[in-house]
Amino acid sequence: MKFDVITIFPEIFDFYFKHSIIKKAQEKGIIKIRVHNLRDWTLDKHKTADDKAFGGGRGMVVKVEPIFRSVSSLTKLKIKNEKLKTKKKKVKIVLFTPRGKKFNQKMATQLAKLDQLILICGRYEGVDERVAKYIADQTISIGDYVLMGGELPALVLIETVARLIPGVIGKSELLGERITKKKGFREYPQYTRPEIFEPKPGVKWKVPKVLLSGNHKKIEEWRKKRSKIIE
Ligand code: ADE
Repeated sequence: MKFDVITIFPEIFDFYFKHSIIKKAQEKGIIKIRVHNLRDWTLDKHKTADDKAFGGGRGMVVKVEPIFRSVSSLTKLKIKNEKLKTKKKKVKIVLFTPRGKKFNQKMATQLAKLDQLILICGRYEGVDERVAKYIADQTISIGDYVLMGGELPALVLIETVARLIPGVIGKSELLGERITKKKGFREYPQYTRPEIFEPKPGVKWKVPKVLLSGNHKKIEEWRKKRSKIIE
């Protein structure tokens, strides 16, 4: 699966993609991540990616033309009923905005079936609305709060989607007992040694007894009761 990120801050992604499971997945050839600088698709000598808002107001708005040019260079497109459409079926163009559809595990599972995701990171006070209206297939928000831009949302989405692609994380993790029938995840509390930790004399932080009992049925019941299902 290919991820193409369009941003005016490509450096934000460098460290993360070079120092994580994501890096290994790229080395194994399971995923391919390319980060593109939006300014490379501007035509003026100052590489202007934003401009003043029509109607007034403070703050700058990311321009539609460089976004159109960058997306056009990353996949084959056609225009149907004024809207941009990807010619290939398993390619989607996503714009990150706090006004988008709230991201969740189910969306990640759907997106993980695609061949290519083109992720557009907004910045400043906004992105020309024609990007959402005519270019993006989907707008996504990662939560009801406002960030400085779409870069962190892109990282969140890539990590959530990538770990669902077979081979990205170890089999034992992905195919383990934590997977639900609906292909979601069952998240329960975990403990490791020591059985008792004393942060100061007389204070004991203990591991629940049931986990030390060796009784698998009881352990399973306890985990079930304490699980949060994410699907
Ligand atoms: N850009 C700024 N805030 C955002 C959010 N919460 N989700 C997606 N994109 C954003």
